[in-house]
Amino acid sequence: MLKEYVVLPTYHEAENLRLLLPRLKRYSVIVVDDDSRDGTKDVCRKHPNVRLFVRKKKSGLSSAVLYGIKMIREKDAKIVVMDADMQHDPEKLPEFFRKLDKSGFVYGSRHARDFSVSRRFYSWLAATLAKTMIPHTKGIDDVMSGYFGFRLKAVDIQKIKPKGYKIMLDVLVNLRPGTKTDKVYFVFGKRIHGRSKLGPAVIFSFLSQLLSLSQYRLVYFSAVGISGIVVNEGAAYLLHPFLPLWADFLIAIELSILSNFLLNHYITFRRRVRFLRALPRYNLVALVGLSVNLGVAIALSYLIFYLTADLIGIIAAFGFNYTLSERFAWAK
Ligand code: GDD
Ligand code: MN
Repeated sequence: MLKEYVVLPTYHEAENLRLLLPRLKRYSVIVVDDDSRDGTKDVCRKHPNVRLFVRKKKSGLSSAVLYGIKMIREKDAKIVVMDADMQHDPEKLPEFFRKLDKSGFVYGSRHARDFSVSRRFYSWLAATLAKTMIPHTKGIDDVMSGYFGFRLKAVDIQKIKPKGYKIMLDVLVNLRPGTKTDKVYFVFGKRIHGRSKLGPAVIFSFLSQLLSLSQYRLVYFSAVGISGIVVNEGAAYLLHPFLPLWADFLIAIELSILSNFLLNHYITFRRRVRFLRALPRYNLVALVGLSVNLGVAIALSYLIFYLTADLIGIIAAFGFNYTLSERFAWAK
């Protein structure tokens, strides 16, 4: 039988480990602790199925999890990663491991959340960003979960360079092609002892993790957009003597769409799909994006200063173009 592993990152969780470890007796448990001086070592020592690794300084949740995973030698181990603070219900572990017989990746999906409205909004925003920027999250209904499991051979562990603290996203991006995924529902519990280790720096760290996991496509896409303005203006200037203004603008717009397409196809999206598939789709996206720009700007101009309205229109069109480029024009 395959060995079943539970990886627990911990930082000052001795009180919680006292409750959790007795419920994990059937598993091989790996605790990766960042030198907590709260008795974590003593609690772990009481359990022969627990291996404790201590790192000398606090270096983050994701890297702790990765460290623990790398300590596992079995090639096809089943591994579940969970928080040690009892917010992840250990009663769900058998279901995770059962589902890992058939699927290479299983995530815990939180439901019945009793979060505040603001927390729910931020969580929705973060999930939407992740879903837009990282196509691997397609079909995953809780991309921010920290409770998940996988088969070791289903993931290219060597490729993971953990940034930020959403280690599940790193694992998802590095799943081997064709891996089946499944989910387990659970209720995200309340922390009983201690407090959350994730402070305000998390927003920045999350955004930089998304950029890095998406290979900086948003940055390239923005740069290409700016180059498009130059092409548009340049073409309009060069053709101006020969054409009526409306035709001049029209051609300038289309030329900038084409040059944006080429740059995005080869640089931003690295030929993710065939040229002839992406070309008409991107063209459509860009033209509709133009009407988004115009529509928003005109509608808002009745309410606010017209240049501000235009700026908001531009931003809306940019968001629209980028989202549909990821999810439609270059979607696999
Ligand atoms: N070794 C180590 N090093 N462990 C850490 C570190 C660290 O720097 N930071 C946090 N941990 C451990 C904690 O001790 C706990 O066991 C687990 O990682 C989760 O940390 P919490 O501080 O409880 O995080 P949270 O509850 O705010 O966030 C959780 O829920 C989020 C969803 O709302 C995590 O699971 C997140 O990954 C998840 O996105
Ligand atoms: Mn927690």
